[in-house]
Amino acid sequence: MSRLIVISNRVSVPKAAGAAGAQGGLAVALNSALREHRGIWFGWSGQETQEFTGHLDMQRNDDVTTATIDLEPQDIDEYYNGYANRTLWPLFHFRIDLTEYNRDFGEGYERVNRRFADSVHPLIEPDDMVWVHDYHLLPLGSMLRAKGVDNRMGLFLHTPWPPTRLLVSLPFHEKLVTSMLEYDVIGFQTTEWLESFLHYVQKELGLKVNLDNSVSYQGRRVVARAFPIGIDHAEFTEAAASEEAQEAHDRLKSSVRGRKLLIGVDRLDYSKGLGERFQSFGRFLTDYPGEAGAVVLLQIAPPSRGDVASYQQIREDLERKTGNINGAHADVGFVPIRYVNRGYPRAQLAGFYRAANIGLVTPLRDGMNLVAKEFVAAQDPEDPGVLILSQFAGAALQLTDALLVNPHSVEHVSEAIRRALDMPLAERQRRHAKLLASVRDFDVIHWRNAFVSALEGKGNNGGRNAEEQATSASIKAA
Ligand code: ADP
Ligand code: F6P
Repeated sequence: MSRLIVISNRVSVPKAAGAAGAQGGLAVALNSALREHRGIWFGWSGQETQEFTGHLDMQRNDDVTTATIDLEPQDIDEYYNGYANRTLWPLFHFRIDLTEYNRDFGEGYERVNRRFADSVHPLIEPDDMVWVHDYHLLPLGSMLRAKGVDNRMGLFLHTPWPPTRLLVSLPFHEKLVTSMLEYDVIGFQTTEWLESFLHYVQKELGLKVNLDNSVSYQGRRVVARAFPIGIDHAEFTEAAASEEAQEAHDRLKSSVRGRKLLIGVDRLDYSKGLGERFQSFGRFLTDYPGEAGAVVLLQIAPPSRGDVASYQQIREDLERKTGNINGAHADVGFVPIRYVNRGYPRAQLAGFYRAANIGLVTPLRDGMNLVAKEFVAAQDPEDPGVLILSQFAGAALQLTDALLVNPHSVEHVSEAIRRALDMPLAERQRRHAKLLASVRDFDVIHWRNAFVSALEGKGNNGGRNAEEQATSASIKAA
């Protein structure tokens, strides 16, 4: 079996049991996927160095070997805070109003991608497969090819892919997307993002897309497919059954004193629709005044990308909204929104999910959304909570038995909360059983195997890809 060289901006070195879990779908998923596979996970340490040296810090932990490099302040500024998170992230989440174009960001992005290529190149052996992740590293494959790496190489994008009409607002978009065509496999979370990508390739690059969604480019065949990511269902179920989870569950349950509990767990990111979610909850309290005092929203939102202005703004905005809603609906001994800005160990998170009657997962745009899947996996099948899920999360294509909502409509979300609170036990059980089957069957191992076999050049499951299988499984179960 070939080794896997996984490359991503962020590398999560496995932590001691009980430590706060990695935050962000990519780190959580890759940690699980790599534990099963011999190989190396390469990327940025998250640390700063005054001058870039390319020194590799290698660690072996919990069966995962990590190799990390430190970056200079200018790199972090222009590449991570700049092009990745002020240009590509907002653009890929359809927020051209927040997208900043700055030549320095573009240069920093290229420089750091080249530094990644220089540093990882000596680790790559002839039979290795290279698997690159996310929008930080789109041109990395082409830079490795320029160094003579002819190994099988794949890219998986954890975010959405924007419609062509939005993407063309990015200066040098053709150069960026053309560089991606040096990979052998390009993976997306859903068929929606895949179709947008293929549309761009046809329309803007004038390339022909073959019937099997492959693109012929400079004598090579590039396969583009959807591989919906899943959670490590076995690991999460074990965490949910632990004593630590039970204690967290009991602590939270007793603190809400018989009230119904809604839970949200998200990085503090504008794409997660937290402001709209708070307003919808406020609307619910206004629509149903009898419920004030009877329902609590617990929002766990660890800070993210705090050096980027739009993230500082969303933080301030949420603090203001929480204050306003709590001010309007709180009473002596009761506060409707509990807003917590910290990370929790995964077992505790599982206990919190299980204590909730409703999981509120309402991003304005999301590549997939693993929190929705974790919420489902953590529920008690005999008395499960209800998942309210944004129609704009990639997960909505798969988790069709959730209550799907338009997160921009406070009325719609308020009605969904009403419906979820009133839902009879039999309906909750029926919906949960279908959701759980999909979360269990299309887990992170399934995702990894599907991508790796595409990277090995193997057939695509009798013509059906993972996205189609996941979707048809939920339809069959319905
Ligand atoms: P994204 O990748 O955009 O952050 P996802 O929903 O796909 O969104 O993944 C988020 C991951 O981060 C989930 O596995 C979730 O459990 C984890 N996470 C989010 N907030 C916290 C927190 N406060 N403590 C621990 N883990 C968290
Ligand atoms: O899953 C999407 C993603 O952007 C990952 O690429 C990233 O690691 C994660 O969210 C968390 O963001 P950051 O690494 O910027 O903290």
